[in-house]
Amino acid sequence: MANWIKITEVENVPSMGSRKIIIGEEEIVVFKTKDDSIFAVNNECPHKEGKLSEGLVHEKYVTCPLHNWDIDLETGIAKDEGGECTKKYDTKVEEGFIYLSL
Ligand code: FES
Repeated sequence: MANWIKITEVENVPSMGSRKIIIGEEEIVVFKTKDDSIFAVNNECPHKEGKLSEGLVHEKYVTCPLHNWDIDLETGIAKDEGGECTKKYDTKVEEGFIYLSL
């Protein structure tokens, strides 16, 4: 059974931007895409640990600020990089709040 954690209001995450949160030892970044979809992944690029929270959001990807890998926010998988991936978290929105499943 999913363990949903209430994170923040949807409006606290900028469109085509992100918000970083820390839960225990995990640094997680919540993204909002142009169509207002919400995604959450570990804030660490699978290449060399670039901070994805500092990356550029486009369509359903974030581009890592260090070497421009495109990380698919739906899966956490780096596009065209042999299956390297960062951890992805399930999210849901209820009554204007974002919830995260660990
Ligand atoms: S650390 Fe992200 S692309 Fe290199």
